[in-house]
Amino acid sequence: MENAIEKAIELLQKGEVVAIPTETVYGLAADALNSEAVARLFELKKRPKIDPVIVHCYCASQVFSFVQNLPEPARFLATMYWPGPLTLVLEKKDSIPDIVSAGLPFAGFRVPKHPLTLKLIEKLGRPLAAPSANRFGKISPTTAQAVFEEFNHLIPLILDGGPCPVGIESTVISFTHDPPLLLRYGAIPREEIEKRIGPLAVPAPNTEWNLAPGRFPKHYAPSVPVEIISSLSEIPYWKRKNAGLIFWGKEDTTGFKVVKNLSKERSLIEAAANFFQMLRELDKSNIEKIYALLLPEEGLGKAINERIKKAAGSPSL
Ligand code: TXA
Ligand code: MG
Repeated sequence: MENAIEKAIELLQKGEVVAIPTETVYGLAADALNSEAVARLFELKKRPKIDPVIVHCYCASQVFSFVQNLPEPARFLATMYWPGPLTLVLEKKDSIPDIVSAGLPFAGFRVPKHPLTLKLIEKLGRPLAAPSANRFGKISPTTAQAVFEEFNHLIPLILDGGPCPVGIESTVISFTHDPPLLLRYGAIPREEIEKRIGPLAVPAPNTEWNLAPGRFPKHYAPSVPVEIISSLSEIPYWKRKNAGLIFWGKEDTTGFKVVKNLSKERSLIEAAANFFQMLRELDKSNIEKIYALLLPEEGLGKAINERIKKAAGSPSL
């Protein structure tokens, strides 16, 4: 692995893009201080330039060196959760290029909890701009194999750090406003953060892009259409024959062509870890439709449901 890290450093220093593991999902990384390298990232992902990318650092003090006017509650969350699946949107210094923050004065920062990537960033001595390693709007990858299938011919290196243990993306909190804004439900539940720093606000779905950029209704989308149902009894057997199902717990799933159970024992942690991988497998199964049952709207369940709704293309948040 030391060799792979050395190779990654060499490529990143040349302005190339490499895939990196994190605890949430795989990222497509470029030197965050090199605008051209970041531009290449947007190009590869086919991502609109109005959707800012997260800056990944190896420790909180590296983050703070790129930030000005750090609010106390943000410092508190950083100390509490980093390294971990929390992204803080903070006022950036000029050293972070504008392309990273889509021209906004605020950039998203996080310290990922993966030993390979932490070592890579520390040794490189520069932060990494890294969106999830999928084409824009597609399913996020939680294994090196999933990245390989999408970007094999387009990037020179995928650092394989095994399957991502958390499985859904970081929670994004923005300190552009008071109270802070919850921009993305993610791996750390809203309730937990509110216990630490008080209430968060959630911007309305149609807010201006500079308040909540990148909150597009359709996202994480498989190529097979996804339909949310409220109970299995809605789906007659003839409709099940060419359909897949994603759900959890113990249901009678007779008749579906492919069935993916996120967690038999109804563990939200297990469901999150399985979610994108199972969605990806369904997408590859030669079916005409994916039916989805939502999970309870609490903790990680809320974050998983948001992703199911976005896969189905329904407006959310
Ligand atoms: O878990 C994660 O956060 C993964 C891993 C690779 O770290 N990354 C990830 O990046 O999910 P991406 O680019 O797929 O999603 C980043 C989200 C987007 O919704 C983006 O709009 C938001 O964070 N974001 C990033 N910078 C922002 C900023 N300056 N202001 C507002 N939102 C921002
Ligand atoms: Mg993404």
